Amino acid sequence: MVKRVCVVGSGYVGLVTGSCLADLGNNVICVDNDKKKIEMLNKFKMPIYEPGLEDVVKRNVEAGRLFFTTDLKDSVKKSEVIFIAVGTPPKANGEADLSCIEDVSKQIALNMDEYRLIVDKSTVPVQTGQRVKETITRNLKKDIEFDVASNPEFLKEGSAINDFTRPDRIVIGVETERAAVILKEIYNPFNSPIITTDIQSAELIKHAANSFLATKVSFVNALSVICELTGADVDKVTEGMGMDKRIGSSFLNAGVGFGGFCFPKDLAAFIKISEKLGYDFKLLKAVEEINKKQKDRFIKKIEDALWNIKDKTIAVLGLSFKPNTDDIRFAPSIDIIKALLRDGAGIRAYDPYAMDKMSQVLPEVKYCQSSYEAADGADALVIVTEWSEFKELDFVKIKGLLNDAILIDGRNMYDPDSMRRLGFKYVCIGKKS
Ligand code: UDX
Repeated sequence: MVKRVCVVGSGYVGLVTGSCLADLGNNVICVDNDKKKIEMLNKFKMPIYEPGLEDVVKRNVEAGRLFFTTDLKDSVKKSEVIFIAVGTPPKANGEADLSCIEDVSKQIALNMDEYRLIVDKSTVPVQTGQRVKETITRNLKKDIEFDVASNPEFLKEGSAINDFTRPDRIVIGVETERAAVILKEIYNPFNSPIITTDIQSAELIKHAANSFLATKVSFVNALSVICELTGADVDKVTEGMGMDKRIGSSFLNAGVGFGGFCFPKDLAAFIKISEKLGYDFKLLKAVEEINKKQKDRFIKKIEDALWNIKDKTIAVLGLSFKPNTDDIRFAPSIDIIKALLRDGAGIRAYDPYAMDKMSQVLPEVKYCQSSYEAADGADALVIVTEWSEFKELDFVKIKGLLNDAILIDGRNMYDPDSMRRLGFKYVCIGKKS
């Protein structure tokens, strides 16, 4: 059944939600208070790089089902279901800043004139739904019925459209049957399992899932240290672990530590929430600590391989926090490059999509048009992000371009024996050097 939907916030989650719901045939208005962003979107210019997004946006705008505007008032009046997908950035103390959610809730209350379902899609602390409900109740001009729901989003950057349209599960946290029916009508076409819970449980599912995944990554990174100390191979160990169906093989790749706008922020927020509730979530504090140490260990690996960093030139391949995105927020590459620059190295970097963004954060880096250009004249090559094109590199050519055949691989992309046969000093994660 076609719905009139409004999505507030045109970031990753909002844009993907809005365009994919329009693709199902719904009439969707995407609202954002950033005028420039809305102007760009109206010209089909995406504010983020996300495979497939531009096509979905274009198709639905042209079909007259998807609109972009800064006018929240009018959008609230025109829509039956309002998704809140505004940012919840971290404050200095690690808590999520929820002021945008409060503002939007107020605006919704002031502008609705009949029943509305307000759905929270942003990642928020448990019990935010209750706060949204209280804020709306306080600001309503007259007695209007409404429902609040929680519908956390689990999309991953780089595969966001696919994750949204073919999710492992859809979580709906509701208080009334009416809200459950509306959300099921919206999501049934995806043919994915829908789990219906109370609002608090839905909110907690998001915290729990992200923290658990981050725990998996930190577990494997800690394991990589033990592998190096014992001569074991972390990739073999995780292969053996992952074949146990209860563990599963995904999210067991050792590397330079997790980054991105979700894991570090959500983990810090969940630790804070637990603290406020009176529980010291020591396990998650260790997950954070291991993640930080993993980056420091990688920097040390580079320093050990090069002996002296000062005045050396280091080629860095991969800047985004993971492949298939231009997102550099909390990317391990930033800390790694900053440490090397502090030690007096010169950096030549290449990334297929993230160089524009990175050049604003680290202008002192020399940005190159290809991996080969980055390697040319460098004293070592460092892999930070596992873009698939790095798998196809011609390492005979790379060796010829480098001053010294040193390859430090933070993502275990290559076979150590083959690299050593080619003459590289090859250093990776969780394996004998
Ligand atoms: C994550 C969640 O997966 C998603 O469900 C949620 O909605 C938002 O946060 P995202 O941040 O896009 O998504 O990236 P993800 O693919 O989950 O990777 C997170 C980080 O973990 C990356 O830095 C990645 O490099 C790292 N990682 C992941 C590893 O180091 N090893 C792994 O095995 C998996």
